[in-house]
Amino acid sequence: MKGIILAAGNGTRLYPASLPISKILLPVYDKPMIYYPITTLMLANIRDILIISNPYDIANFEKVLGDGSKLGVKFSYAIQQVPRGIAESFIIAEEFINNEPVALILGDNIFHGFGFGSMLTCAQKENKGATIFVYKVKDPERFGVVEVDEKGRAISIEEKPKEPKSDYAVTGLYFYDKNVVEYAKSLKPSKRGELEITDLNKIYLSENKLKVEILGRGFAWLDTGTTETLLQASNFVSAMEINTGLKISCVEEVAYRMGFISKEDLASLAKNFNNTYGDYLRRIVLKN
Ligand code: G1P
Repeated sequence: MKGIILAAGNGTRLYPASLPISKILLPVYDKPMIYYPITTLMLANIRDILIISNPYDIANFEKVLGDGSKLGVKFSYAIQQVPRGIAESFIIAEEFINNEPVALILGDNIFHGFGFGSMLTCAQKENKGATIFVYKVKDPERFGVVEVDEKGRAISIEEKPKEPKSDYAVTGLYFYDKNVVEYAKSLKPSKRGELEITDLNKIYLSENKLKVEILGRGFAWLDTGTTETLLQASNFVSAMEINTGLKISCVEEVAYRMGFISKEDLASLAKNFNNTYGDYLRRIVLKN
């Protein structure tokens, strides 16, 4: 399976904090925001990753992430000229997708929870069309909302409904089969002028091929859309990391634990950091 990270938004809700740099490169506690979606894809054993951003920010992503070889993965880059919606990603990425199944994650979506990696690999194997990951929230009207039956099957899916039929928000992580490019091409722009991911999911639902994975209690799905929620996300990560002594979404650690790089590779990556981040990597080299 291939992976796409959509990091194209202007982050206007975070202005002026996100004026100098893409919101997706702002720090969430001790690392750039994009490390979180990258590690989500890596945990799903996805190593071929396309990063889509706007014409102004794309060069910064390349500067920060490079070609991925140091992490045993491959990063490539593409531009979304104007924000024409999440589902446009698949049209932009047609060549990259090359008729294979693909995962899409939004650059500002942070997931954390025990067993997430195995859940993702299972969902990947079982995916027969589309798989969405949903999370119970107190304000579903802000999101895509899915209604599920008692067996967890999707009944309906709506984008930011005024009267949500459930509390299940559709998170920004999606798995699709190879038909996704053709389906995305068939979409018409919504009232806000975008190709909506929810309309794409509706096509899969109408074909009875939309699988819902519920992220239960104990899972964290963090929002970073406003200055308050961005700070809360940083506070969450710092509390977890300080309490457990383990880092969340440390790309070098995940690359090593997934077997993408060797212990020697990790030791040499650690040399780039003459600080506590580097000490953390060095401890992993010594103890594992
Ligand atoms: C987008 C999707 C929405 C989804 C959300 C998750 O919303 O349209 O269905 O629930 O991402 O982050 P947007 O960020 O465009 O408001």
